[in-house]
Amino acid sequence: MNNMDIEKIRKDFPILSKKINGNPLIYLDNAATSQKPSAVIDGIKYFYENINANPIRSIHSLAEEATKAYNGAREKVAAFINADPEEIVFVRNATEAINLVSFAFPFKEGDHVSTTYMEHHSNLLPWLRLREKGINVDIVSISDDYELDMDYYKQLPKNTRLVAVTHASNVTGTINDVKEITRISHEQGSLVLIDAAQSIPHMPFDVKDIDADFIAFSGHKMLAPFGIGVLYIKKDIAENLKPFLTGGEMIKDVSLSKVIYENAPNLFEAGTQNVEGAYGLGLAIDYLNKIGMGNVEKYENELTNYLYERAKELKNVEVYSGKSKAFSGIFSFNVSGLHSHDTAYLLDKKGIAIRSGFHCAQPLIEDRLKLDGAARASLYFYNTKEEIDTFINELNNIAEKYGRR
Ligand SMILES: Cc1ncc(COP(=O)(O)O)c(C=O)c1O
Repeated sequence: MNNMDIEKIRKDFPILSKKINGNPLIYLDNAATSQKPSAVIDGIKYFYENINANPIRSIHSLAEEATKAYNGAREKVAAFINADPEEIVFVRNATEAINLVSFAFPFKEGDHVSTTYMEHHSNLLPWLRLREKGINVDIVSISDDYELDMDYYKQLPKNTRLVAVTHASNVTGTINDVKEITRISHEQGSLVLIDAAQSIPHMPFDVKDIDADFIAFSGHKMLAPFGIGVLYIKKDIAENLKPFLTGGEMIKDVSLSKVIYENAPNLFEAGTQNVEGAYGLGLAIDYLNKIGMGNVEKYENELTNYLYERAKELKNVEVYSGKSKAFSGIFSFNVSGLHSHDTAYLLDKKGIAIRSGFHCAQPLIEDRLKLDGAARASLYFYNTKEEIDTFINELNNIAEKYGRR
């Protein structure tokens, strides 16, 4: 396929040699969370055995080491997306990052914010809730090919303060032209938030090139532990935001009558943080850099093309993803007449892990696609062509046996 040594890479992921229901695990649920390499797993142990202390607060030597490790992780994240370290706020996950913006942003009654029909609930519910404060929430429609209505962005409603949009859909696989959306939204005076939870783990990503104002993503989808995520906030914008949480280490000075807050990123990191998570994310980034994100993207595109090519052989299978101009890594489908949970259950008996249901995108699946759920196989760079063959063959068996013709 290309010059990536997948067999060698797979040895770095201990769980990939596990058996499930008597069969080798074929892990095709990467959009839900990725597996972790030994470099990350062992690194967390190393952190607790050698570095553990509460960073930033204490001044003893061990705490200084912890501070160095924590800020070092921030520098790695910044370099990975071509940002500056002070633009990187550590949060729990993409969900928290987007909620933070929805609280911190200085919206006024009558303002508009837009999101889209193809969003994960994480980039939908924080905005829908703003309706309670008299803010207008506009939902951008999608075509039958799962493309966003780009005309909407060309003429944003007056008073649009923020455009929120996913870079890559976790259901349709669509990759949106977020650079163009950002450019035209900026021209009309709106800021832009990009949900990059399904893109940053899979492709090179340059915040300066895209020029968005907020970017949210989760560590656990890119080899890092659970409970660590990132909110990028463009430098000049942070000063207009209110803190989301208040408490320890986000202040410069406190008296009972006056509080002077810290600057970003500390302003948005109240309380003791997930330090080992940040450290683990730094190690995950080291690992991804070693492979090269360009290689990850290229290999995953090849795998995706191979999967879609093989899927053409399937009968009694409806495919929902992959119709847009750009898409990758996601294959959403149903065996006709079979609920997605049943399909997932039957594949699991063969050791194949996929996801089924609404994928935290219920308005998209239920209202727009008129489905009661969908099955989804999602790829990462450690998957192989052989795994795809097994998946397609088993899916074919299920479709032949249970599918409605
Ligand atoms: C597109 C998209 N955005 C946001 C999220 C939320 O990620 P998390 O649950 O890690 O906050 C997901 C998770 O699947 C997602 O696919």
